[in-house]
Amino acid sequence: MAAPLIEMAHKKPGRRKSDPALNRLAPEDQAAHAWYRFNLSFPPHLVRDYLADFGIAPGKRVLDPFCGTGTTVVECKKLGIEAEGTEANPMAAFASGVKVDWSVSHRAVVEFAEEVAAAALQRLDREGVADSDPLHEMRGRRAAPILLGLPHECHALLLENSISPRPLHKALVLLEEIDRRSARRAHPHARLALARVLVNDASNLHFGPEVGVGPPKADAPVVEPWRLLMREIGSHVAILKDRADVHARVRLADARSAMKLLEPGSIDAVFTSPPYPNEKDYTRTTRLESVVLGFLRDMKELRSFKQGLVRSNTRTVYKADDDDQFVAGNRKVQALAEETERRRIEMGKTSGFERVYHRVTRLYFGGMARHLAELRPALKPGAMLGYVVGDQASYLRVMIRTGELLAEIAQGLGYDLVRIDLFRTRLATATREQLREETVVLRWPG
Ligand SMILES: C[S@@+](CC[C@H](N)C(=O)[O-])C[C@H]1O[C@@H](n2cnc3c(N)ncnc32)[C@H](O)[C@@H]1O
Repeated sequence: MAAPLIEMAHKKPGRRKSDPALNRLAPEDQAAHAWYRFNLSFPPHLVRDYLADFGIAPGKRVLDPFCGTGTTVVECKKLGIEAEGTEANPMAAFASGVKVDWSVSHRAVVEFAEEVAAAALQRLDREGVADSDPLHEMRGRRAAPILLGLPHECHALLLENSISPRPLHKALVLLEEIDRRSARRAHPHARLALARVLVNDASNLHFGPEVGVGPPKADAPVVEPWRLLMREIGSHVAILKDRADVHARVRLADARSAMKLLEPGSIDAVFTSPPYPNEKDYTRTTRLESVVLGFLRDMKELRSFKQGLVRSNTRTVYKADDDDQFVAGNRKVQALAEETERRRIEMGKTSGFERVYHRVTRLYFGGMARHLAELRPALKPGAMLGYVVGDQASYLRVMIRTGELLAEIAQGLGYDLVRIDLFRTRLATATREQLREETVVLRWPG
């Protein structure tokens, strides 16, 4: 049955649905959310709107199975609502876990920041490396400093030129000083702050929206932006401390197989944005900070990390993958995959990536079917679910209506389709068509 389509566009009269502001973090939402965030995460107000719509209040428990950098779990905790998250990317799982840890005191964070910054600056000064004033360094110039670097197998994982040698050196010195104090309460917050500084201040990366490498910076301050961010985190935990005891837990786990870790019948609502088949490689988005902070040490670890993800791009497909079996009987998914392969052959496209487009399509929807099937025992009867997904046309311009297909798969697994809301649209450069980003609203009847 076709679902009614409700255009929400986030309830701001006159706001265009392609307006990038729909995604931005509002100034009043900065606390915890801003500590570290994927640039395309959905905004906290979207979570609030759906929790209100689902009738979720304190006393209820919400799950985000693809929790990324934690917008849902953070927002729930802010509202006094219990939250569970799972995430397969170790860097993102770490970030979400820290973002819901508000039991550290303001003082502990600020003292840690001042002590570590002083120690790192002293060390850099002895080596003749200035954090933020290279001119000053030139004036008092001694022999060229010996810069720290990453072990070869780690460096090989980075996107080429993603960070220049001098900012990397400063980040590694700072990290050593942070990790020397690993027993302190503010230690995880300090590592997370370094992750954000690495990306936002120290690196040559840009996000537009895919991660790319811009012109290399010869140098960039690292210690000072980190110290300032730590002070901001300190002031945020002071604001959030009243909610520090509200349960919020994030597990490093695969949402296709780990839903059994959740207590049966414990989840009142799900709000999430799973990956969709858009060629986005989440392992590249977080590569620099994952490597520097030691979450990713060699090719083997990268491979096992990729294997824990829903297949949503051609770089993370393996021979043994078999999630496609979960949609073997779905005619629409099969027809879409066949059309993609037919078009590839007609167009004479033969690259390794193009040859697996049809396979990723099946594996993606199969992985989501597996997740939705696994999830059922954890849900309370009547639980409401919101899945934010987008259409795609990047596989030889074949339109993949992700929301529609996901809704159909969910219905086949016993979920009720409540409606599909339009969140925003974006123009597909290849087809000049508007691609829809939607929230598929489901209900688990029990
Ligand atoms: C669109 S992002 C979620 C962004 C999130 N809403 C936020 O606030 O940052 C999708 C996330 O799903 C994660 N993911 C992909 N496959 C997964 C799986 N099998 N299990 C758990 N997480 C997975 C990715 O690593 C990525 O972080």
